[in-house]
Amino acid sequence: MSTTENNRYNGRLACRFNPAEVATPAFVVDEGLLADNLTILARVKEQTGCRILLALKCFAMFSVFPLLRQVLDGVCCSSPHEARLGREEFGREVHSFAAAYSEEDIKQLAVTSDHLIFNSFAQWQRFRRPAEASAGAAGRHPAFGLRINPEHSEGAIPLYDPCAPGSRLGIRRADFRTDLLDGISSLHWHNLCEQDADCLQRTVDAVEQRFGDIIPRMRHVNFGGGHHITRPGYRLDLLINTINRFQRHWNVQVYLEPGEAVALNAGYLVTTVLDVVQADLPIVIIDASVPAHMPDVLEMPYRPHIVGSDEPGKKAWTCRIGGLSCLAGDVAGEYSFDRPLTLGSKLVFTDMAIYTMVKTNTFNGVQLPSIVRYHPDSDQLSLVRRFGYEDFKNRLS
Ligand SMILES: Cc1ncc(COP(=O)(O)O)c(C=O)c1O
Repeated sequence: MSTTENNRYNGRLACRFNPAEVATPAFVVDEGLLADNLTILARVKEQTGCRILLALKCFAMFSVFPLLRQVLDGVCCSSPHEARLGREEFGREVHSFAAAYSEEDIKQLAVTSDHLIFNSFAQWQRFRRPAEASAGAAGRHPAFGLRINPEHSEGAIPLYDPCAPGSRLGIRRADFRTDLLDGISSLHWHNLCEQDADCLQRTVDAVEQRFGDIIPRMRHVNFGGGHHITRPGYRLDLLINTINRFQRHWNVQVYLEPGEAVALNAGYLVTTVLDVVQADLPIVIIDASVPAHMPDVLEMPYRPHIVGSDEPGKKAWTCRIGGLSCLAGDVAGEYSFDRPLTLGSKLVFTDMAIYTMVKTNTFNGVQLPSIVRYHPDSDQLSLVRRFGYEDFKNRLS
């Protein structure tokens, strides 16, 4: 089992709401669990003075932004659309980075972003003046930064390793132009994926070795995302010490921009069994689709946990669980349960807030899952949004 699979599998194994009350398919986010994550992130902020941004690429459920902004300092964005959402709905700091920008991107990002990070000196030279002009016309003055490549991998799978050989992400030291730093006030990197603070500490060492002459010229340094801060057992003290030491030594403001850590284990995908067919083993077909509603299961890949299930063969009844699309590989995995699933049984997939809602699609015209909030104090489920035919049609022409 890979580290990633292990982390996801060991996530919260149950849910506190009653799935029978949920019209499916639906994502249900437990606000109490989100608040628990925020308490941990608040402690990191209190003990370091670092700033923490939410990575919208991971979790952009804007109806809970009022809760998140009680603790988090803002959002980090990958596109003009994310930056606009952050500006309009989050209302604190907006930091933007993309591997490359177009002229139109810059016009928009310059008026929505507080920090604009470039991935190459060519882009910085080309867009500094246009960005200043667009921002100035709107009375804004964004800070500019550069993404560096620490050239230090921490064993993430290559798909998620921005320091893998041939990576297009971040400027390597050999290509770094110390003569072009006028106007640059921050360095940014991102190289972790669901990792602990020892991985960060080694990355910081690598950055200090390679870029130690550059850091004193900066005001902000962004350690990126991939810090699994809210996972049980994460080495919080090491994170706190690493940030404190770095800020003291270099006299800079440190930022973190986690996505997963904010909503880790706080969301569920609730589905209903539509049919059980027999093919070598019982195959359960649910009213959701793996490629459309939980694409990371196939992309990463990993085996999501389902409440009440175990590994195949461990419980009385083993089956394969698949979705309703045409794709032969629309399969979540094999699971065992205490008793056979039947038409109408509810299946609750755990840890489905992160990299899910933001990635859903309507392949096969499938129904997008509704978005539901669960309030543990009142034990109430409230529907935030239900999607329909228009949402499917509006993406086509
Ligand atoms: C630049 C950058 N920042 C932040 C993140 C968020 O990472 P995570 O959700 O793993 O914390 C990512 C994820 O890919 C990223 O590429």
